[in-house]
Parts: sequence; structure tokens; C-alpha cells
Amino acid sequence: MPQTNLLIKLDGLTMTLAKGERRQHLVRTAELELPPRTAVGIVGESGSGKTLTVSSILGLVPFLPGITAGSLVLGYDQTPDNVWRDGPWLNRRVYDRRKYFTWQRRLTSRMKRYRGKKISIIFQKAKVSLNPFLKIKDQVFESLKIAGESPNIDSALYWLNNCGFNAGEASRIADQYPHQLSGGQAQRAVMAITLSSQSQTVIADEPTTGLDAKLQVETLIFIKQMLDKFERSAIIISHNLYSLAKFTDICYVMYRGLTLEKGPTAKILEHKGTNHPYTQKLQGLVESGDVVGQTQVRTDIAGCPFYANCHIYRKFDAGAQKRCRESEPPKISLDSDHYVRCWAFEK
Ligand SMILES: Nc1ncnc2c1ncn2[C@@H]1O[C@H](COP(=O)(O)OP(=O)(O)OP(=O)(O)O)[C@@H](O)[C@H]1O
Ligand SMILES: [Mg+2]
Repeated sequence: MPQTNLLIKLDGLTMTLAKGERRQHLVRTAELELPPRTAVGIVGESGSGKTLTVSSILGLVPFLPGITAGSLVLGYDQTPDNVWRDGPWLNRRVYDRRKYFTWQRRLTSRMKRYRGKKISIIFQKAKVSLNPFLKIKDQVFESLKIAGESPNIDSALYWLNNCGFNAGEASRIADQYPHQLSGGQAQRAVMAITLSSQSQTVIADEPTTGLDAKLQVETLIFIKQMLDKFERSAIIISHNLYSLAKFTDICYVMYRGLTLEKGPTAKILEHKGTNHPYTQKLQGLVESGDVVGQTQVRTDIAGCPFYANCHIYRKFDAGAQKRCRESEPPKISLDSDHYVRCWAFEK
């Protein structure tokens, strides 16, 4: 798809921690492309850099680990907006705080027209995203104001109705504070607030964390139905490939800060031994319905971060193993819309 048709094009994102002379890349050359009316998934275990990646899209980045390389182009208007390119505050030895804060201030003012207006985010725990001091209706009102609509109870009830509350329930929930809601109700209230802002893109960062297994599936089905109904695009983050399989069109597989595979979700699930070795491991977990746990995060590896657990690496001779350990795996196209980062795929 040509670049101009994309709503989000994030390229070569590198986010780096600096301790004295030491550099640790928590995200390495990550990328993400979001076409309109598409749901894109990011899957990976805890600590793989999923939240840092989507935070960079909204400019919600800390000083450390700051963005040290990459670029972001947003395509919500006719002319694509080159929002940032490379973190300018890192020279070879030190982080330049002054340059960083100037850059961050400019970014914040530039992102005002996107945050909540074009792109909304639902964070890991719904209740944490809600303001504990405001009734749900007041939080929908805030969101309606962002969309340029005057705050009114009919619109608030319309969005609550659309998000799975029947008429009686919607008026009751509208008058309640977040702590009075159950986990599932809070999640649907967050969805009503998000959708009422009319933003074209919804980023859902593990929206089902903290819900029980049955409610997790129901919530994801619900989110997908809402996005389809209101023709929104989405980035959905999950630990679990099984969850994303049903709700996304395209999937990115991340491991310890690196995107190891990207393709149509159907191809990521094909299970013919043709995917990245890490994706193959996730596919095994799909079958058992399990989720990926957290492994110790080692981001100081120059080569493939997965080599120590890779079944193909073990079959390689010493020379090929050295290459996996020491050189960043190249991006190999398997198809026009599908790639893996793996030395084993090099012809
Ligand atoms: N401000 C920070 N300072 C130091 N390390 C950080 C900071 N923010 C994130 N990290 C580290 O960067 C790595 C990636 O973090 P990130 O939150 O993006 O992971 P994630 O894939 O979203 O994980 P989870 O599934 O647990 O939410 C983790 O190892 C995390 O500990
Ligand atoms: Mg996260």
C-alpha cells in the first residue's frame, strides 16, 4: 500500500536507555503501518516493547528510554504529516536534555490535534483510565467536546447504549462513579468514551487485562464489533496470539524490542513451519490456549534476541550460530505483505 494511504507509518523506531557510556535498546527498529478501517495487532510477551512502541505514536515518550532513531508519519489529512524523525538529543556520548525538552515541547503541541481527536488509546486497566472523581456521563461529555459536539445527555446515552448498556442501565451507569462499576462495565464505559470522541483510530493496549477468561473474549468481540460498526481503525495489543487471531487483519510479532514477523493474521497463524521460529512457538501456545509468559528481558544482544530459545539455531553450524548471536537478523520478504527477521530465511 502506498505510504500516503496509511494513517500511521512508524519506521525504524529505536528507544534507548543510557547509563553512563552504556546503551540499552529497549525497542530496536520497530515498525508499524496502519491502513484505514483495518485492525492491526501487536503480539509479544511481557517486556517486548509493545507499550513503548504505541506510546511513541502518541508522543507519550519519556526522556529515558527516549526515541533515538526512527520516524513517524501520520496520514489523517490530505497531506501526510511528518511528525518526527530521529531523536535529536543523543550524540554519541551523552543525552542532551535541553535538546530533548525542546523537541518534546514541540512534539506535544504538534500532537494536540491527534491525541483524543484522531487517535485514542485504551490502557491496560480500564478502571485506571477513568477519572475517579467524575461521573461516567461527565467523562463522555469531555469526549463529546473533543469531537466538537456540545455535551448533552442524549448523546452520552446513545454511546453508552451502543456499548452494550440497555436503556435503563445506560442512565444508571451515566450517573455512577468509576469505582461503582464492575470490570466489564468499566471496559464498556471506556469504549463509549473513546468512540464518542469520534477519533478514527483506537489503540487498545491489552484491553482485557484483569478480566476473567470468558469476559476477555466477550470484550474483544465487543471491541471488534464496535470498531467495524463505526468504521474505525485499531491497533490491538495482546500477549496472546489466540486473542488477536479473531480480531485483527494484520499482525506484528515482537520479541525483546524487535519486530520478528509481520503479515496478514491468517498467514501468521498458518502453522506450516514457514513462520519465524518465535511465531511457531506462539502458534503452539495458540493450540493449547495458553498465553506467553515473561522471560528475563535481555536487550543487550546485538543479534537475534530469540536465538537462545530457537530450534533452528540449535541445528546450525558454529559459523551460522555466531551470525545469529552477533548480527541483527535481516528483514526477509516472504510475500509482498509478509516478512520475517531471521537469518534462517536468507537464501
Ligand atoms: N521508563 C522506563 N525506564 C526503564 N525501562 C523501561 C521504561 N519503560 C519501559 N521500560 C522497559 O522496557 C521494556 C519494554 O516495556 P513495554 O512496557 O513496552 O513492554 P510491553 O511489551 O508493553 O510489556 P507488557 O506486556 O508487560 O505490558 C520492559 O523491559 C520495560 O521494563
Ligand atoms: Mg504493555
